[in-house]
Amino acid sequence: MNIVILAAGAGKRMRSALPKVLHPLAGRPLLSHVIDTARALSPARIVVVIGHGGEAVQQAVAAPDVQFAVQSEQLGTGHAVQQALPLLDPAQPTLVLYGDVPLTKASTLKRLVDSAVDGRYALLTVMLDDPHGYGRIVRDPAGYVVRIVEQKDATLEELRIAEVNTGIVVAPTAQLAMWLGSLRNDNAQGEFYLTDVVERAIEAGFDIVTTQPDEVWETLGVNSKAQLAELERIHQRNIADALLQAGVTLADPARLDVRGALSCGTDVSIDINCVFEGRVTLGDGVSVGAHCVLRDATIGAGTRIEPFTHIDGAIVGERVALGPYARLRPGAALADDVHIGNFVEVKNAVLGQGSKANHLSYVGDADVGARVNIGAGTITCNYDGANKHRTVIEDDVFVGSDTQLVAPVRIGRGVTIAAGTTVWKDVPEHTLVLNEKTQRTRTDYVRPVKKKG
Ligand code: UD1
Ligand code: CA
Repeated sequence: MNIVILAAGAGKRMRSALPKVLHPLAGRPLLSHVIDTARALSPARIVVVIGHGGEAVQQAVAAPDVQFAVQSEQLGTGHAVQQALPLLDPAQPTLVLYGDVPLTKASTLKRLVDSAVDGRYALLTVMLDDPHGYGRIVRDPAGYVVRIVEQKDATLEELRIAEVNTGIVVAPTAQLAMWLGSLRNDNAQGEFYLTDVVERAIEAGFDIVTTQPDEVWETLGVNSKAQLAELERIHQRNIADALLQAGVTLADPARLDVRGALSCGTDVSIDINCVFEGRVTLGDGVSVGAHCVLRDATIGAGTRIEPFTHIDGAIVGERVALGPYARLRPGAALADDVHIGNFVEVKNAVLGQGSKANHLSYVGDADVGARVNIGAGTITCNYDGANKHRTVIEDDVFVGSDTQLVAPVRIGRGVTIAAGTTVWKDVPEHTLVLNEKTQRTRTDYVRPVKKKG
């Protein structure tokens, strides 16, 4: 089978400089969703017809299995499909999809394709309570499809038809090429309509068959930001339902956003307003508190993530305690039983088993061993203004509060660092390190008093 995806339209009603098919749904371009669905059908060819913003569209979805045909002027859906013809295998049928209709299920398309055996012309149609704006499916008294009439070309009687054309069709390719060549644009919009091919097929003695999707939303397209927001909610609700089905506890399925692939073990629970981006894996028994954002992260079994925690590009072990208000940045790798508390930032740093940084710290470009205690207000000074340097803290080190570790620096195992120490030289193991400071008490001090008047 060939698949042609129409994506040349401007999408004026989006009121955006971004080509319509590149607007994100669940964090990815609308067109990428359609291409993924196309791939699920294992076609011989995928051809995307581009026009408005063509270069940007091509760049955004380029892949070895996707070809592009340019429609430099948008003269109608029939004309658009015509541009793809040279790239199609004429011996196989062609399925036409739309770059702005992102939620069609592969199983629905499979049924449509299966109905198109022996050169049949197959239409995906749907019954709508409000068919306004769509092409209507006109049938004869015996129920056979005779033609599709566009809203702007329809008679009052035809406008009452509730069965509409989704635009998605499967056609025999060699014949389609001939029929498209004979289209005329003497209609209300002055366009070459793909829908007019139906009459050509009937004249040529081909059977027209119709298939309906399981759900109306499978056929909804995006023309405006309002419709984009509506489809986003439908898509997110579907994702939430799948998670519930798989046994995940969601505090509120309407307050969860998954923009990528979220995979969960058993007994995972997710509180409200969490966002998951990229590839996120949550192990058995993980709990995610309210208002967390997790991107490209792997979280080990039994880990608790408290509210308002941000995780991006991190690997977290088992039984780890994170947050509230923790931030893990790319390259953070936490072993089992680590504790990262409030206002602690970890970047490009490894923390060994059982190590703790519970309050107000920055741990960047560091190798931290096991059972290390990082006191409140500890800073790895990793940047000299030009280059980044590493801090190494070996096992069982105790870092007192308000310590600065000026990298590159190595703290040997078992070292104790006194509170308020600036460490800029390597420290041998099992020693105490401190900066000489004195504390004085003065009894002659008089606190200033605010002047009156
Ligand atoms: C089309 C159908 C209509 C159907 C509706 C479903 C035709 C003539 N009409 O109408 O029966 O009910 O879809 O949504 O086919 N496109 C191009 N190049 C063009 C024209 C369009 O790539 O020259 C693309 C658009 O970007 C869009 C899609 O084709 O993604 C549909 O085009 P649009 O003009 O929106 O068709 P409708 O008038 O909605
Ligand atoms: Ca149109």
